[in-house]
Amino acid sequence: MSFIKRFIEEMPKAELHLHIEGTLEPEMMLALAKRNKVKLPYASLEDVRKAYEFSCLQDFLDVYYLGMSVLLTSDDFFDLAYAYLEKMNAQNVRHVEVFFDPQGHTERGVSFDTVMTGLTNAFDKAKRDFGISSKLIMCFLRHLPEDSAFETLESACKCKSYIHGVGLDSSENGHPPSKFERVFKQARESGFVAVAHAGEEGPPAYVSEALDLLQIKRIDHGNRLLEDGALTRRVADSGMAMTVCPLSNKRLQVVEDLSNHPLRKMLKAGLRPTINSDDPSYFGGYMNENYLALQTALDLNLDEIIQLGRNSFLGSFMTDKEKQKSLDDFDLFTQKFR
Ligand code: HPA
Ligand code: ZN
Repeated sequence: MSFIKRFIEEMPKAELHLHIEGTLEPEMMLALAKRNKVKLPYASLEDVRKAYEFSCLQDFLDVYYLGMSVLLTSDDFFDLAYAYLEKMNAQNVRHVEVFFDPQGHTERGVSFDTVMTGLTNAFDKAKRDFGISSKLIMCFLRHLPEDSAFETLESACKCKSYIHGVGLDSSENGHPPSKFERVFKQARESGFVAVAHAGEEGPPAYVSEALDLLQIKRIDHGNRLLEDGALTRRVADSGMAMTVCPLSNKRLQVVEDLSNHPLRKMLKAGLRPTINSDDPSYFGGYMNENYLALQTALDLNLDEIIQLGRNSFLGSFMTDKEKQKSLDDFDLFTQKFR
């Protein structure tokens, strides 16, 4: 195995852009459909995999919402999250900040509490079993109306100690951040940190709106901000992290090919990109597969990989003390490895 491949696999790292519903592997989807007597339009694993060809974000989202319909009980959410955390332990991921989409469940009659119970039990167990630390970020589905987001925020306020932040995901085009300015204001006033998907398919103006109107502390995706030079300088000067998702970008046709992925451009522009998996079961890889695919496509060197690994901790929402400890461990790893 090449030196850099082994380095990537063994490097301690953090994942900052992961939708827990996007970790639902086809095997678990079919097993839960059977357990819960949910009808799916797939007769076999092969059928499921065939559905995973996407020409754009919306194509994917249709399949993603259908897939999550098998999640009904706390045990389902526990099994889903714990399976992800076991994989992250095997990939030397030490800290995760995980999105969940409560409206994707409450809209189907699954209670907010059911979702929270399963997820928090899994994250608590992974802390005990593997020492993986975690934060939950609740996303508002941007294709739904503001009212529904306000209702969801109300539920979140009842279990604030378990939810660190709020995010914004789902269909980007036609649903600008401005649609959620008021609910984000209330969320921030309630003590949640704000992030948002912006500039994945949407224009650079959506990134500016997310910064100015939602007052986000991290940009999810953000690829298209590079089209605006002033905005690029602004984000670079701020030191704000971006959560980049290479295999997602490829599978959703945000980039034509990984060999023209803008990651190196981001680094050269002084931005702070991180590598993440987004919806690994749908896009063909977890954390290490994302690092490896991009390293191969762009021929990233060791210094660039180290920068990306450090960024994952620097861009996290850990306390300064926790960040320092993670970075010390990281630096120790790189010294030993060399
Ligand atoms: N973009 C927007 N919404 C999403 C995504 C994404 O990449 N994954 C899950 N929901
Ligand atoms: Zn995402």
